[in-house]
Formats: sequence, structure tokens, C-alpha cells
Amino acid sequence: GALGVGMTEKRQQLNQIAVQDNANTVLTTSSGVPITTVDDSLKAGERGPTLIEDFQFRDRMAHFDRERIPERVVHARGSAAHGYFQVYESLSDLTRAAPFQDPSKKTPVFVRLSTVQGSKGSADTVRDVRGFATKFYTDEGNWDLVGNNIPVFFIQDAVKFPDLVHALKPEPHNEIPQGQTAHDNFWDFVSLLPESTHMLMWIMSDRTIPRSFRMINGFGVHTFRFVNADGVSRFVKFHWRPVLGVHSFIWDEALKTAGRDPDYLRRDLWMSIEMGDFPEWELGIQVIEESEADKLPFDILDATKYIPEEIVPIRYIGKMTLNRNPDEFFPETEQAVFHPGHLIPGIDVSEDPLLQGRLFSYTDTAFHRVGTNFNELPINRPVCPVHNHQRGGFMRHTIVKGQANYHPNSLGGGCPALASASKGYVHYPAPVIGRKTSNRAGSFSDHFSQARMFYNSMTDTEKGHILGAFSFELSKVSTMGIRQRMVDLLNKVDHDLSVKLADNLGVKAPEKSEVESSTKVLGVAASPALSIIKS
Ligand code: HEM
Repeated sequence: GALGVGMTEKRQQLNQIAVQDNANTVLTTSSGVPITTVDDSLKAGERGPTLIEDFQFRDRMAHFDRERIPERVVHARGSAAHGYFQVYESLSDLTRAAPFQDPSKKTPVFVRLSTVQGSKGSADTVRDVRGFATKFYTDEGNWDLVGNNIPVFFIQDAVKFPDLVHALKPEPHNEIPQGQTAHDNFWDFVSLLPESTHMLMWIMSDRTIPRSFRMINGFGVHTFRFVNADGVSRFVKFHWRPVLGVHSFIWDEALKTAGRDPDYLRRDLWMSIEMGDFPEWELGIQVIEESEADKLPFDILDATKYIPEEIVPIRYIGKMTLNRNPDEFFPETEQAVFHPGHLIPGIDVSEDPLLQGRLFSYTDTAFHRVGTNFNELPINRPVCPVHNHQRGGFMRHTIVKGQANYHPNSLGGGCPALASASKGYVHYPAPVIGRKTSNRAGSFSDHFSQARMFYNSMTDTEKGHILGAFSFELSKVSTMGIRQRMVDLLNKVDHDLSVKLADNLGVKAPEKSEVESSTKVLGVAASPALSIIKS
């Protein structure tokens, strides 16, 4: 391969089915008719009106008129690259997932890195979460790890997601602001939602102003399952660690860069790959025996908590290298569809109510944004064979031979399911207990311990940055009651922080909170070291 790492199966497939080179060819209409006139339409005389019979004009204009598709409802602005993943040693004891079996196997990947809030044309260096979505084209189908650069999330249940996104997007009456958290709606919502506190601490930290996409973490956030060939399931958390380390701008640099070069992160990713300076991440896992999960001082189904490394160390199991820029942005980066429910044998979901809701949302939005047959598009197509009885729908590409498009059939054609359950996808038969309810498990209600733990793990300089960020963002909030409510909420995380913030914002300093001074500490010192690491 041109880049010295061999051509992945995905590259070969794209070359075969889609990639075309227009150099040294002649211009044609979209139905293949060679064109001689490019600059002028067909008119009734030199000064006459344009004729509707000019099919070349109609072809060009009508297609142009339809070039845009809806942007992603979140994570609209992103950049992507191709590469591969390679495991260090077989993990067959933990999972039968194809990318984790053979250290000599390079699994092709496509990775899209994004901001969350801004529209497709917004600036790169704004304070925001970064999305980190990876599509593994495995021999047993596509697996998508759709994560963020922050290990926790704003909310605990997917049903709140539409309100969260309404609150953080530009306000509905004036579509302001673009690409910042500095507005009343956002702070109104989160100040009324204590479960968002932990995420807010991360958002106001330097993590949300990364200096490069090559220097961000990626986290699966939710608890997933690894299932091995014997059907044994263990809980797993996924972590991408950038080989270059995690680096951030300081706020002033990020603001100035947003003006000077709004494409800064996109350009940095593109240029580094063009120059052969390939971004790399190690994939880490935290593995927890199902029987040990209940011993943790929080619920592993709660996406506002992470598992401290002091309790369950991260084991680094392989490396991902991004070594090729897309040939064309739209059919690759824009039409790529990632989905946390794109699972392969050996990987399953947990019952995290945030993850469960995502399983619906991503398919639904893919049908809306890209279309029924999105899986057939070149970028989304698996590298392994696809056979089923799905037919029809707008923009169907595949032509299937034979009469029987149903199962069972006796007429030939068709494709039966695998006879043996030991090979195909089997949903892990997790036990289910209790009655239907919309109540949450009790431990979901501790919203401050990990927020405090995160804050206390910061150096004084970093703490200063967090205070500065809260002060900057909240000073843009015009409703004083919202400022006060945020200060009072943060008092439950750190009294000193909230007093200084109150002063910066011109609101009342709170009394020391009972929650903050309580002895309830999560994690490290308070937890017995669990012997739950599968080495
Ligand atoms: C994109 C929904 C939580 C990471 C999206 C999109 C939707 C969505 C509709 C647009 C997809 C598209 O148009 O192709 C939701 C819902 C959530 C949720 C309903 C919670 C209930 C999360 C969380 C993470 C995450 C917790 C991180 C762990 C991403 C990423 C993308 C994305 C990285 C961009 C994918 C790409 O690059 O194409 N989400 N999301 N989301 N989401 Fe979520």
C-alpha cells in the first residue's frame, strides 16, 4: 500500500465499488452522455430565454438543488479518517469478538471525531465535548464504538435527551449562541438537573478545549458486555488513550483560534495524516466480573459515574492507527452512520437506560438523515458478506438473484440462519427481575461524590481554569436566578469554588453545604480493593 501498512479490506472494497478518478476522463451527464457545451445553456436565439429541453442544464441544476442532506441532530461538525486496529494478544478468554482474537489481524476502521453542539459550519475550538466514533469493519460485521472524550454523560436516562439537546443548542427564537455553552437555556436546564453536575465539572475543565483531535481520549461511557465462546459474560468499559498524550488549549488560545482558523482541529488531523504523522490510540478495557459489579459504591448502569482506575485498573489491549484521509468528505465522513447498537458476536450491551435509549435513536435518525438503505452505502457496507431477505426501499443498490425472498422456503434461493448458535450473534441471556417501573435504582441519586472526586484530583492551576470557565460561561447568563442556582449546586461539590464563583458572578455566597461536608466519599479510599480484574 502507498502508506506502507498494506491495503485494508475496506480500501479494496471501496476501490472496487465506489472510488472513481475523474482525471483524464471526459465530462458526461449523469446518464453518461458525453458533453461538449459546459458554459452556456441552450437558448432560443443568442439573447433568448433558456429552453427546458436542455437536459444537460436540467441534469446539472436539479442534482445540485438536492446536494444537502439534514445535518446530524447532534455532532453535526466532524472529521474522519481511515485506519486499522490491531490487538496486542488474543483476548479469547474474555470475548469472541473478531478484532480481539489474533494479534496479526489488522481490522479496518473508520473514525469520526466531532463537536456536539455547533452546526456543521461552526468553529472547531469552542468549549464542547468531542465525539469519538469508531467503526470496526470486522469479519463478522460492523462494530461501532460510539463514544465521547469525557467518560460520563449529562443524564442517566435517554428519555431526557431531547430536552438536554434543546437546552444546549442555540435558543429557538434567535438561533444564538452558536458553539458555546454560554447561554440561559443551557444553564437553566442543567442547574435544575443535579445529575448533570459531574459532567459539568468535566465540561468546565480543559478537557473540552483540546489542542488536537490526536490528543483526546475516547470513552465508551456506558458499561458493555464482553462474552466469550463459552457464553460467559463480563462487564467492560472501553477507553481510547492517545499515544501523544492528552493536551488542551488554554481558554484564550481556544477563543483566538476559533477566529483565526475555525477549521483548526480538522486541518490538524488532515495535515498530520498527509505528512505521514499518523495519529494513534491504545484501546484500554476495565473488566468486571458480573458477580463483583454490585460491590462497587455506585451503579455500573449509571452513565454519570465512571469506575475509578484505583478500583479497576485499565488494561491496554491494542492499538489503532489512522493512516488515510477520506477521498471525498460527503460520501465518507458525512454519510457514515455510527450506531452503538451495531454489535458483533462477543460484544453486548448492558441495561444502562441511557444506552438502551440510544439503541432506538441512532437507527431512527439514520433512516431520517441518510435513508432506508444506509447500510448499502460504500462507507457503511461491511467487508464481510451480507445476505438477508430485506428488499426494496429508496435507493436500494443490491440485486439479489433467485425467487425466494422469504424464510423458510422450498423453492431454492433464500438464506437460512446459521444452524449452530456457537457462531452467530446470540444475545446474552441476562437475568431480568422485578416489575415494570420507571423508578431508578437508588444509587443513581448520588450526584456529587464523583464530581467532587474529579475536582479534588485537579491541580490548583486546573482548579483555577474550572473556576474561570464557570465564571466566563455563567457571566453570559442574564437571569440572575440561574446564576444563583448554579452557585448553590456547585456548593455541593466544593464550597470554596462556589464562594469564589458567587463573587465573580455577583450573587450570594452559599453557606457550607451539608452534602459537601458529609463524610460520604466515593471510590478510592472508601472502597475495598476489589479483586475483579481479569489479568
Ligand atoms: C451522534 C443520539 C448519547 C456519542 C448522535 C446522533 C443522535 C444521537 C441522534 C446523530 C447520529 C447521526 O445523525 O448519524 C443520542 C442519544 C443519546 C446520546 C439519544 C442519549 C440518550 C450519547 C452518548 C455518547 C454519544 C452518551 C457518548 C458515549 C455520539 C457520537 C455521535 C453521536 C460520537 C456522532 C457520531 C458520528 O460521528 O457520526 N447521537 N446520543 N451520544 N452521539 Fe449520541
